[in-house]
Amino acid sequence: MAETCRRKLEASVLLLSFFFQSGIIILISSECSVLLYETMEKYAVKRRNSPQSLQQQRCLNNGTCQAGYTDKGFSCKCPYGFTGAFCSKACSFDFEDGIADWEMTGRAFIYQPTFGDNPTYRRRESANLQGDWWIGGAEKRPSESDTAGVQHSNGPDVPQGTLTSPCFRIVGKNISFLIGGGCDLGNVRAELIVDNQVVRNETGNCSETMFRKSWDVEEFIGQYAQVRLVDESSGGYVHINFDDLKGDIICPDDLDEIN
Ligand SMILES: *[C@@H]1O[C@H](CO)[C@@H](O)[C@H](O)[C@H]1NC(C)=O
Ligand SMILES: *[C@@H]1O[C@H](CO)[C@@H](O)[C@H](O)[C@H]1NC(C)=O
Ligand SMILES: *[C@@H]1O[C@H](CO)[C@@H](O)[C@H](O)[C@H]1NC(C)=O
Ligand SMILES: *[C@@H]1O[C@H](CO)[C@@H](O)[C@H](O)[C@H]1NC(C)=O
Repeated sequence: MAETCRRKLEASVLLLSFFFQSGIIILISSECSVLLYETMEKYAVKRRNSPQSLQQQRCLNNGTCQAGYTDKGFSCKCPYGFTGAFCSKACSFDFEDGIADWEMTGRAFIYQPTFGDNPTYRRRESANLQGDWWIGGAEKRPSESDTAGVQHSNGPDVPQGTLTSPCFRIVGKNISFLIGGGCDLGNVRAELIVDNQVVRNETGNCSETMFRKSWDVEEFIGQYAQVRLVDESSGGYVHINFDDLKGDIICPDDLDEIN
């Protein structure tokens, strides 16, 4: 897993040198461009051609250019919901497009994501989901046309398993998410994994309702991470509900993560 993250990091460094060598560099405001050159020297990337046709561009999405800040030498200060060196849209995992890029083990998550506020059809408390889709470990409503209110065929709490996010990069202090379901941290939890170590964890409140929780991740800025949902018991009220992981993170696919 850490290896996967490392490979992506190496690929992004190659991409960085490609951009510098081909001289296709999109710069932000002039103040930032001077600093970007310093950054290039720091990365010891050799440019073959001097870039003649530099396109001047400001921070995206109303971000403002700031000197200092991180090892990058500069940063765009981004409005909420935008992040990265150029304030592209922050990466988030809200399950509106499924979980195809998450890695699954076991059976706990085979019916995920769940459509709609499924527990309410059983007269249970609202899941407090974001959007239409979420991870409801006890639920079985994998499409809108499936019967509402139905639970996992193995029983709501019996199946066990893990669900691990793609790698993302931590670029600021705060990661937050909605979490609900069981409340036994030893058996059911969300984990933040950095460099193969579980560095943060959180569990629900023994209620189907998800509450927003956050992790202070300042000490991991610049590092790659993953979130893993863990259900390792068949005991009563051991399932996890989870949604809308977001914050100061950028996805490896975002071009601006090379900075
Ligand atoms: C940027 O600011 C302008 C003016 O306040 C606003 O109209 C526009 O929607 C903003 N753009 C973004 C992407 O937030
Ligand atoms: C982290 O972000 C969440 C969501 O915006 C917010 O509720 C929480 O207060 C933030 N935590 C800190 C320490 O800023
Ligand atoms: C949860 O995190 C805390 C603090 O890092 C740690 O002491 C504890 O062992 C973790 N628990 C589990 C079950 O991972
Ligand atoms: C957790 O559950 C208790 C009891 O139902 C409730 O009073 C409390 O507000 C909940 N809070 C959070 C943040 O989980």
